[in-house]
Amino acid sequence: MLVLGIESSCDETGAAVVSDTGEVLSDVVQSQVIHAEWGGVVPELASRDHARNVLPVVREALARAKTSLDAIDGIAVTCRPGLVGALLVGVQAAKGIAFGAHKPIVGVDHLLGHLLAVFLKRDEKPREDPAFPFVALLASGGHTAIYRVDGPHESMVRELGATRDDAAGEAYDKVAKLLGLGYPGGPVVDKLAAKGDATAIDLPKPMASKKSLEMSFSGIKTEIARMVREKPPKSDAEIANICAAFQRVVTSVLADKLLAAASLEAVHDVVLGGGVAANSELRRRVTEGAAKLGMRAHVPPLASCTDNGAMIAYAGAMRLKRGDRDGWDLAATSATVLPRATRKGRGAR
Ligand code: KG4
Ligand code: ZN
Repeated sequence: MLVLGIESSCDETGAAVVSDTGEVLSDVVQSQVIHAEWGGVVPELASRDHARNVLPVVREALARAKTSLDAIDGIAVTCRPGLVGALLVGVQAAKGIAFGAHKPIVGVDHLLGHLLAVFLKRDEKPREDPAFPFVALLASGGHTAIYRVDGPHESMVRELGATRDDAAGEAYDKVAKLLGLGYPGGPVVDKLAAKGDATAIDLPKPMASKKSLEMSFSGIKTEIARMVREKPPKSDAEIANICAAFQRVVTSVLADKLLAAASLEAVHDVVLGGGVAANSELRRRVTEGAAKLGMRAHVPPLASCTDNGAMIAYAGAMRLKRGDRDGWDLAATSATVLPRATRKGRGAR
């Protein structure tokens, strides 16, 4: 089965052709650079850019896969969560294509896409799929949570813990902005952190209790804002030290909570997903920590971590395979349907 996947929930327009076994025939991602000067995603600009890019990106995905709509078995599209105006562009494009080509359409929850991205097979050395059930950390610009995943469908995913406030990627982006490093902040902070001395600055570790799977990243961001205001860094080396100290705290919280969750659930496979899973220190901590505990860490290649159409195509293929179809009333909505265990700002439910 071949599925065309379309992604437009935030600032990446993505389209991909993927098989139901996870083979990626093509994966085209057009990142919107227009937001950099604003220091964050501007929803209206995002929608307009998606509208300009979505059809060229779909055409390119079909061309790179050396296929045509005739050979496609279904269309999958991100329908939530995200910026509604941005999602709407992808959903309407998918409906138009599906209607014109007489193909079934299925909506996909973006978070489920991230959780299943580990099954994508790109041109790389063969990798072993995780076994269900697994425990996954999804850390991106909009979400940070730990899930138990019993199968490839929404109803088989349970949140075990999440951030009470900022998402980890959001904290990266805000710290980068405070340090004048531009947007998005994750990749540049990651790079500078490797050059800095994490012990040069003392930062408290938030929600360090081993028992709780909740997280919090707004305090550390505020702490860095205070530090930068009171004693602005004077050299590249000082900036690198702040990046290193920040990264050490954030990645150790994420890795510790993920591994604690896997131990509590008595699960053997741990998985990373979302843009922050591209982080070098997080990848290392999870891989080394899992090995020490006799667990298997599954760390997808970078292209599968950040937003892309391939993960949406794969999650859609799982729905199409069991006969699911959505109607022309498929709507774009801002919230995920995955159950939440943590209430923003208020702790565990
Ligand atoms: O999953 P994603 O592409 O989009 C969302 O759904 O949010 O994640 C984007 C987030 C941004 O906040 C970006 O700064 C962060 O992922 N990110 C990273 C790294 N690469 C991207 N954070 C830390 N280290 C990285 N190497
Ligand atoms: Zn995402």
